[in-house]
Amino acid sequence: MSINIPRGTKDILPGEVEKWQIIEEKAKEVSARFNYKEIRTPVFEHTDLFQRGVGDSTDIVQKEMYTFTDRGDRSLTLRPEGTAPVTRSYVENKMFGLPGQPVKLYYIQPMFRYERPQAGRYRQFVQFGIEAMGSADPAIDAEVISLAMTVYQELGLKKLRLVLNTLGDADSRKAHKDALIAHFEPRIEEFCSDCQNRLTKNPLRILDCKKDRDHDLMKTAPSILEYLNEESKDYFDQVKTSLDDMNIQYVIDPTLVRGLDYYNHTAFEIMSDAEGFGAITTLSGGGRYNGLVEDLGGPATPSIGFAMSLERLLLALEAEGITLNTEEDLDCYVVALGDEAKKKSVSILNDLRNAGIKSDKDYLDKKMKAQFKAADRLKARFVAILGEEELSKGIINVKNMESGEQKEVRIEELSTFVKQGN
Ligand code: HAM
Repeated sequence: MSINIPRGTKDILPGEVEKWQIIEEKAKEVSARFNYKEIRTPVFEHTDLFQRGVGDSTDIVQKEMYTFTDRGDRSLTLRPEGTAPVTRSYVENKMFGLPGQPVKLYYIQPMFRYERPQAGRYRQFVQFGIEAMGSADPAIDAEVISLAMTVYQELGLKKLRLVLNTLGDADSRKAHKDALIAHFEPRIEEFCSDCQNRLTKNPLRILDCKKDRDHDLMKTAPSILEYLNEESKDYFDQVKTSLDDMNIQYVIDPTLVRGLDYYNHTAFEIMSDAEGFGAITTLSGGGRYNGLVEDLGGPATPSIGFAMSLERLLLALEAEGITLNTEEDLDCYVVALGDEAKKKSVSILNDLRNAGIKSDKDYLDKKMKAQFKAADRLKARFVAILGEEELSKGIINVKNMESGEQKEVRIEELSTFVKQGN
């Protein structure tokens, strides 16, 4: 009996993987341009990290974590997101002491969430994310948003919508929280059990509830924007001004609440407006998390970041009909005829590759015609043909597949010949 792939995961095969490579390259290149450095953290962390970092009352921690006990009886969790691990690493490696603050990091790593799989939602997915740690300058909020938009736009996406909100500082949030409790409490029994639990712990989460989305109290819920103190209002204004200065368009949505607890001030999501994108339209999400470093044992460190999954980015590209150029060709295919020539082709191929030439040969003992066919399929620019006669003369016949021109070249000069693109 065959064994299938686990639900919510997928294989990325040759043909598809080239698209991933292009996106990963773009993410790396744009990150470097914005002066972000790569960080890699373990696939699993102590479960506590996410309970404390992401928040006990969030869906991620409540329902979606892949948690297991290892042989040493420790509770470990496959990381569901990257911000808590990067923050843990920032504290553990005392990056707050580095001279170059803010510390600007990016990652491209698989994440794991036990969610109900559907288009754009998987149990293992790859996030490209960045974290800028150690600056409370509103201009860096705009930088982070701009980086995300740049990656999308340079890959060709056009139907993007940046949705922006602020969650305010601790005081504003407290005032808003009280108002939310007062708003929902009298009729909380009309809400799902999750929301009933959320009421006192984290009423902001109620606004994010998928089950009670259409309840009339949702529409009239107090908006955070009415509870912002001067400082928070001012901060948000400066973020908006920086975005305006960079000509980045956005819409304000005071109901945008992110699904993780660590956020304050700026929160944003980038959505795809492409037709046929499907039910899940969020391409990426992020925001400020000024208290997280402190919560995880470090000094007060204002920070902001975002993450996007490569899976959703690929779906958006598809929905907008954008094809990435994944065409690959081969520089040289060596066709060998006869046992001696076949033997010799091994070292010829080795020399070509050592000279940096992308090359290949037949390993299935194919006839000449079939070898040419293989060269064609691989889009070889040159086919180098070696028979017994050529071998005895120390030459090889090289055919330029584009022009059809054929030339005799000394075997030891093959690499130079191909490199010159004759
Ligand atoms: P998040 O909103 O939970 O935020 O996830 C960010 C992005 O990851 C989503 O917008 C989506 O592109 C992708 N994503 C999430 N779940 C799935 C899934 N099951 N399948 C496919 N893609 C998914 C965070 O993770 C925060 N750590 C972002 C952040 C970084 N905030 C500050 N810094």
